[in-house]
Amino acid sequence: QHLMPKPQMISLKDCSRVWINVNLATFDPALSDAYGVQTKCALGVQDGRIACIEPMSSVTATSLPYDVIDGHNGWLTPGLIDCHTHLVFGGNRANEFEQRQQGKSYQEIARKGGGILSTVRATRVRSREQLIKSALPRLEALIKEGVTTVEIKSGYGLNLPDEIKMLEVARELGRRVPIRVKTTLLAAHALPPEYAGRADDYIDLVCNEIIPTVAEQGLADAVDVFCETIGFNLKQCERVFHTALDHNLAIKGHTEQLSLTHASSLAASMGALSCDHLEYLDETGAVDLAQSGTVAVLLPGAFYYLKQSRKPPIELLRRFKVPMAVATDINPGSSPLASIRLMMNMSCILFQLSAAEAIAGTTREAARALGIIDNFGTIEVGKIADLCLWDTNHPNELPYELGHSPLQQRILGGDIAHG
Ligand code: NIG
Ligand code: FE
Repeated sequence: QHLMPKPQMISLKDCSRVWINVNLATFDPALSDAYGVQTKCALGVQDGRIACIEPMSSVTATSLPYDVIDGHNGWLTPGLIDCHTHLVFGGNRANEFEQRQQGKSYQEIARKGGGILSTVRATRVRSREQLIKSALPRLEALIKEGVTTVEIKSGYGLNLPDEIKMLEVARELGRRVPIRVKTTLLAAHALPPEYAGRADDYIDLVCNEIIPTVAEQGLADAVDVFCETIGFNLKQCERVFHTALDHNLAIKGHTEQLSLTHASSLAASMGALSCDHLEYLDETGAVDLAQSGTVAVLLPGAFYYLKQSRKPPIELLRRFKVPMAVATDINPGSSPLASIRLMMNMSCILFQLSAAEAIAGTTREAARALGIIDNFGTIEVGKIADLCLWDTNHPNELPYELGHSPLQQRILGGDIAHG
């Protein structure tokens, strides 16, 4: 990953725009502290990339270009990245929320044809425009908090036309609002009712038709599966992974969420970018993730919403140096929570992450989980200038205080992009 030579820094004067009086939480792993702090800096951008970082002590009026923005001693972090969402869907599941309050479990509701399948019914009957309209407020909530890249999964279509519809909607959202969208095909999310009792036949459809078509049309950046008793088994997931890799698509999985299936080890052995949820992950699984450099994506919103008692094995992940990302998992059933900063907070409170781990999890490690770490996720010369400017005394305030946002500017490719 560090085989590329460090890009040459140009002078501030040659940058198209410079932020002065900013403190940086770079999350550059080359710096010794967890935040990668560089205080009292000037940061210049050129051609959408970070082009120069200098200490303010060396800055003079003549060393600056025309376009200068005073950061007033605020903090710059990498733009936030939400690396796991299902934010395109029809309808909602507030009625199931009520059923769960009366004691029914998520799995029970799913087995009776509710859960994911009720959202599949609601998604199939909606037009592209209707799906865009209902997804936009969720996306705008993320943008207001400083998210610059979001991953969006399909998985509520479960047939070729409706999976394509969902992916096209996801891509269209990225054209309507100023945010970068990465799309993931999750056709192996649940067994559609027309294939009841014929899971292998549905996996045939996924492998023989859906993946090849989606790959050919360039609609997905990765392929995901739900390996679970209420999802698909190991063998079925392995087939999906093989087919995805054959079509040059990255792979990732919803693994060990509700039980230990060892799908994380399978995914890791096949070079998965990430394994997500992981409440039931064991030591072997953690070792396998470490060995392949697969990111553990923690989804505290789903853990909270499903009132799970078993936590992902954070100590094991730390011990074996598995990179940990944190994401919202926005979806109508297990995490109807469109707030990345709430997830930072929950990862600290519920999973004992440090504040620095929580922010690294929504910047650097989230970029790694999406396979975009070469260009995003840290503040380093040469990377794309996706940044957030915060009116805080320290970035540790980000997971700490909720309900209002200290976001001053959201910067996308060096341009200020207010939501
Ligand atoms: O990440 N685990 C499977 N998929 C989603 C839930 C989807 C739903 O309930 O609609 C998740 O938790
Ligand atoms: Fe999910």
